Amino acid sequence: MSLHVDTVSATFAAKAPFTLLRGGTVIDGTGALRIQADVLIHEGRIAAVGQDLPLPASADVTPIDCRGLVVAPGFIDVHTHDDALLLQDRTMAPKLSQGVTSVVAGNCGISLVPLVTDAPAPPLNLLGEQSFRHASVAAYRQAFEARPPGVNAALLVGHTTLRFATMDRTDRAAEPAEIARMAELLDACLGEGAIGLSSGLFYGPASAAPASEVTALARVVARHGGVYTTHLRTEMEAILDALDEAADCARDAGVPLVISHHKCAGPANWGRSPQTLAHIESLAQRQRVALDAYPYTAGSTVLREDLVDGVIDVRVTWSTPHPEASGRMLAELAAEWGISQKEACRRLQPGGACYFQMREDDVARIVSHPMTMIGSDGLPHDQHPHPRLWGAFPRVLGHYCREQGLFTLEQAVHKMTGLSARNFRLVDRGEIRPGAWADITVFDPERIIDRATFDSPLERAAGIESVWVNGQLSWTQGGAGPALGAGRLLSLRAS
Ligand code: ZN
Ligand code: CU
Repeated sequence: MSLHVDTVSATFAAKAPFTLLRGGTVIDGTGALRIQADVLIHEGRIAAVGQDLPLPASADVTPIDCRGLVVAPGFIDVHTHDDALLLQDRTMAPKLSQGVTSVVAGNCGISLVPLVTDAPAPPLNLLGEQSFRHASVAAYRQAFEARPPGVNAALLVGHTTLRFATMDRTDRAAEPAEIARMAELLDACLGEGAIGLSSGLFYGPASAAPASEVTALARVVARHGGVYTTHLRTEMEAILDALDEAADCARDAGVPLVISHHKCAGPANWGRSPQTLAHIESLAQRQRVALDAYPYTAGSTVLREDLVDGVIDVRVTWSTPHPEASGRMLAELAAEWGISQKEACRRLQPGGACYFQMREDDVARIVSHPMTMIGSDGLPHDQHPHPRLWGAFPRVLGHYCREQGLFTLEQAVHKMTGLSARNFRLVDRGEIRPGAWADITVFDPERIIDRATFDSPLERAAGIESVWVNGQLSWTQGGAGPALGAGRLLSLRAS
């Protein structure tokens, strides 16, 4: 597999600088066993991987001592709501500080593109209230490339966003002419580089959509070779039906399916993960199915009365009328105000919350499943966000892998790199091998751990030593690296 540096210098301009990661433990992202090896970076790509690589002659080489550290592909966060953050905060600190080098944005039916509005309704307001300024992927790309962020990004187009872009009201099924208009917008987005469609049938503005509406749009995705991701219609008691609905849509349309943030939500549903995972495995026998998950027992989304049952804990993450409530427990607020939790929920709208709706054994089982990819589902615009925004990846590596021993480090890395790149069709990403893009995360396997908590959600993870994005050093232990904005907008074909 490894090239010799002599070959490399002959094929690349010898004057361009090289970076040599010396003596690290290379975990290549494919799930293969670790090896001790050097990794040579040149002109944005990995030029060579091998033991005791000789220094390239007559070239500018920066050697980096990686002994005792793991050299892994940069992590791919397959489930994000970073559409607006990518344009607003180039440092992308919540991602780079965890070793994430690429994000998939536009999940759960909620994408910034293609919609221009001053008043995004829930759940679109998860992306911030002032962000909807891009009527096309081309317009988004222009903004992205004018001030590139610190990580790569791939865009999904949200079904809910398409509904707002084409319908006067969203509490009904789309008419044939509206579906045709949605399909046209989606087709243009995919032509300009979006990688697929997402849906969030769980959310009000999409829940009136029948499966046939989504299938019609997924057919457009099939023509472009993209993917279809979905926040299921329900993750509660009727989850098996919701899984079947999603799988039938994807199969009828001929697209690969990604089940977003798989969970067994609600006390009545706890303990059912063996059943749901077996069901997903059986669907995977007949069609391409993948899933992602985040490693926490709480979910987080906008404030919704139907999720406030008086049984599970609810913690407020933001509230426009009551910003002082951010971070507080809904039960405490309700007691102080002398009203029910549902009433308190109404009073805090618009806002967001963490819902402690899962059980630990289900989360551990789902995260451990060999088909499961890691996605943070972080919500970067929340005032007191769910800690998954700053901690999801180090938590899988430190808590579930090292401390709990649920899977090997090679499997953990695979779930956040090679498997993710394959399922989302990201070319030359997610693996350490000659020719792949040099997205690389160097971390300390003994120290890596999440530090963000529900009380203190902005704490940076420990153990991420340095991160390269497209060959540019973009994060070092203390903070941002020398390169600001090495990220690219990824598409299905080119990279
Ligand atoms: Zn979702
Ligand atoms: Cu989401």
